[in-house]
Amino acid sequence: MDVVTPKALRGVASLKVGAVRHWTDKTFSFTCERPASFRFRSGEFVMIGLLDGEKPLLRAYSIASPSWDDTLEFYSIKVQDGPLTSRLQHLEAGDHILMRPKPVGTLVHDALLPGKRLFLFSTGTGIAPFASVIRDPETYEKFDQVILTHTCRERGELDYGLELVAGIRSNELLSEIVGDKLTHIPTTTREKSAQMGRMTDWIRDGRLAAATGGPLNPETDRVMICGSMDMLQDHKALCDAAGMTEGANSEPGHFVIEKAFVD
Ligand code: A2P
Repeated sequence: MDVVTPKALRGVASLKVGAVRHWTDKTFSFTCERPASFRFRSGEFVMIGLLDGEKPLLRAYSIASPSWDDTLEFYSIKVQDGPLTSRLQHLEAGDHILMRPKPVGTLVHDALLPGKRLFLFSTGTGIAPFASVIRDPETYEKFDQVILTHTCRERGELDYGLELVAGIRSNELLSEIVGDKLTHIPTTTREKSAQMGRMTDWIRDGRLAAATGGPLNPETDRVMICGSMDMLQDHKALCDAAGMTEGANSEPGHFVIEKAFVD
């Protein structure tokens, strides 16, 4: 890690990019080196970005890699006129990105009360923090059942999650830790696929309960939600209706929410 020194860049690390992968015309992921002293809790986000003239242009990004990993991984949307992602999408191996190494966020175990089932509801790039959480052994120490739902408009957008879960299943160490505790429910809403529909509809009409062994129950279930503002509000309303209370780092609860960051 090189620490760049001009005033505006104090406390900002410059990290070498490893692999870059373009998943669809709307999404890409990349890895970068992890500073040896950088610690975070799975599910947290950091500010990352590029230099814009003399100043850093930083945006919040969930860390998609688990906290035990040597490298950091990010999963991003491409916004053609977005100030950062319009440039970030052209990253290549060997380039450098900037990161303010101060991880924060609420999609963490510390913000949830103990429970039996953990539901991770995501849409689009909102799957990123859960890519971290479902590869963290702590998740399986704390919960008997972990249900990751990922809803996207089109089938191709599900590939990141499908490969992620296939990677867990084929990893000798992780697959042993995860066992049969992880259920992945990918759905599409605008292109035909094996499972279709918004997860909010699945919750309302009982499809999720049928797939997971019962409806949301504050006694046993904990929920993390990541997606657009509308998606968060609608999922939150369903958690509220189930009698759940929102948690925070300072006061753990039944569910936690965080916006999937875009620019
Ligand atoms: P839909 O196609 O029915 O709008 P977006 O790109 O707009 O963020 O949407 C990503 C995915 O999230 C889409 O599949 C979309 O379904 C779904 N979605 C959007 N808004 C909500 C919501 N309020 N509740 C649940 N799912 C949503």
